[in-house]
Amino acid sequence: MVKAWLMDNETTDQRLEHHRNPPAFVELDELFKRTGVEYFLINADNYQNDKVLQDLRKQRNYSYEDEITCSEKCLPDYANKLKSFFTEHLHTDEEIRLVLDGSGYFDVRDNEENWIRIAVSKGDLIIIPAGIYHRFTLDSNNYVTAKRYFVGEPVWLPYNRPADDMDCRKKYLKHQSEGFVNLGKA
Ligand SMILES: [Fe+2]
Repeated sequence: MVKAWLMDNETTDQRLEHHRNPPAFVELDELFKRTGVEYFLINADNYQNDKVLQDLRKQRNYSYEDEITCSEKCLPDYANKLKSFFTEHLHTDEEIRLVLDGSGYFDVRDNEENWIRIAVSKGDLIIIPAGIYHRFTLDSNNYVTAKRYFVGEPVWLPYNRPADDMDCRKKYLKHQSEGFVNLGKA
């Protein structure tokens, strides 16, 4: 089950939890209000028949899907890939991930520039909006398998920070100022 918390500022191993002292957890509705990140719980053992996932795919036109495994054994060019995943970046489209096995951390910037760490594991589906600064790392288990979804032909290109002049960034900030009520609309 997903958990999210504000991170400390330590530069030690990125795979550690990096809780503040005392820990400062962020509830999912608060996470959405601050960042626009959405969360859904899916039955990972039978995701093809999961009603929540089926409805999501239909409503949002997720026409593309594939599967990615991140581990030293399975991912070509592992060290460099992990480094680029953990470099703060944004995308012009939503990043949609459903964890089928293993675990990892998505870190997203909130409205006050704090990092919020989102710990995902089996059955967690998160939607990271277009234009939000974020990054990903494996945790100390060093393994995750996830489904990726996309509207149309997939574009995985990351734009490293700073990318403040991009349209998707400006749109994101507008959505944030409106409390994300129009998220997903132009
Ligand atoms: Fe990303």
